[in-house]
Amino acid sequence: MLGDLVSGIAFAAHDRYRIKKSMVRDLSVLVMLIAERSNAALLFDDSNLARENLASLRVAPFITSASIYAEDGSVFASYTASSVAPEAFPPLERERLHRFEPNRLVVFEPMMFEGKRIGTVCVRAALIELEEAWRNYLISAILIILSAGFAAFILSYRLQQIVSEPIKNLAKTARLIAQQKDYSVRAATETEDETGVLVQSFNMMLQTIEAQNTELINSNRDLEQRVKERTLELQAAKERAETADKLKSFFLATMSHELRTPLNSIIGFTGIMLQGLVGPLSDEQKKQLNIVKTSAHHLLSLISDVLDISKIEAGQLTVAMEPFNLRESILKVVQSVRPLAEKKGLVLSVDGIDEVLPCTSDVRRVEQVLLNLLSNAVKFTEQGDIRVICAREAQRYAIIVADTGVGIAEEEQDDLFQPFHQVDTGLSRKYEGTGLGLSICKKLVVILGGSIWVKSDKGAGSTFGFTLPIEGIPK
Ligand SMILES: Nc1ncnc2c1ncn2[C@@H]1O[C@H](COP(=O)(O)OP(=O)(O)OP(=O)(O)O)[C@@H](O)[C@H]1O
Ligand SMILES: [Mg+2]
Repeated sequence: MLGDLVSGIAFAAHDRYRIKKSMVRDLSVLVMLIAERSNAALLFDDSNLARENLASLRVAPFITSASIYAEDGSVFASYTASSVAPEAFPPLERERLHRFEPNRLVVFEPMMFEGKRIGTVCVRAALIELEEAWRNYLISAILIILSAGFAAFILSYRLQQIVSEPIKNLAKTARLIAQQKDYSVRAATETEDETGVLVQSFNMMLQTIEAQNTELINSNRDLEQRVKERTLELQAAKERAETADKLKSFFLATMSHELRTPLNSIIGFTGIMLQGLVGPLSDEQKKQLNIVKTSAHHLLSLISDVLDISKIEAGQLTVAMEPFNLRESILKVVQSVRPLAEKKGLVLSVDGIDEVLPCTSDVRRVEQVLLNLLSNAVKFTEQGDIRVICAREAQRYAIIVADTGVGIAEEEQDDLFQPFHQVDTGLSRKYEGTGLGLSICKKLVVILGGSIWVKSDKGAGSTFGFTLPIEGIPK
């Protein structure tokens, strides 16, 4: 449409230029003729003749006025068409020229006689032809635009039927599928053209999605079934394992108890024999009996540890919370390991003991934890010192045991509190122990409402610490 308009305007402009050119040419010829014919009238000063000559222009209805100027510039003769109102003549132009004014064309033509200019003819013509052509163009342009618009409308209406309708249908189907997730819906098509191919491809795509969907639903159902079965199996296995675990803990708890009684009598009777109450012993007999006594003690502590772990795991460990003097307990435990430390040439010190006031907890278990940590420190330190540091925080005590021993590599520290875990440095063989101490400590500290931690570097000593709530287990 816009293209039509632009080309129409260009065409009209070109035609207007052409018409103007031909008007100038025609009028110039006419003016030349008048000039030619009026030479004699001007030479003989016959203004009537000149007027008659000019009056002959009435045959050209588009000429509105004409005049002949004498050489001095005065109007010698003039003519004005009857259809127009008389108006002033333009000032004389001595050269041959033409110019377009808003509504008319003005042409000046010099009158020559024997090579000399004797006057000038001026003719003014209305631009009727031009206006008419312009009007015609305008009408044709409007008609063309209207008919082109109409044709475009009809064409687009038809194209809409052919192209837009199937695409609209396709979009509607796609929307429906997106909303209802129903991939069994198909878009309708009746044509075999490009849109028909598009719709068919869309339908094929839907078919593939539907098939995959069905497959997915089926395999999902299968999977769900398998997960259900596996869950049931796992549940059963878990229950079996839990029962077995409880049984094991129960068995160990009972057995450990049963084992301790004869072991205590072995220790007791060995002691009696060593004291010489059943008669004198030779040095060799004493040596052998001492080995029996040490081994029996070792076995007893092992059985106690196993009993503790079993009780904790069976949920049977109860703690007796009561106020006690923590300061005394710490000093007592430190005293008990002092001989061992001194035997190895280690300095054993206690800092911040004045910070410690009475506390409510299970005194036996607190002493057990501290003894474990201190025994470890003595066991795994060959030289240097062991420090027990006591600190009081808002509602709890922190008791720390720092040594200058073998230390523990960072990657080993995570499993340190697991039962039977011993750092495999080749050195552990060198030390006695079963690897239950720290796991019992951790469980006890947690039961008592505190926490336990370790900080260590391999070869640079270890620091173990635990906290205890001052007022017993927080509610
Ligand atoms: N102070 C320490 N310095 C270096 N290593 C330590 C220290 N305390 C514990 N460990 C390491 O952690 C391991 C576990 O300690 P834990 O007290 O649980 O067992 P154990 O001392 O070997 O045996 P148990 O305490 O049952 O007699 C030890 O075998 C040792 O490798
Ligand atoms: Mg230990």
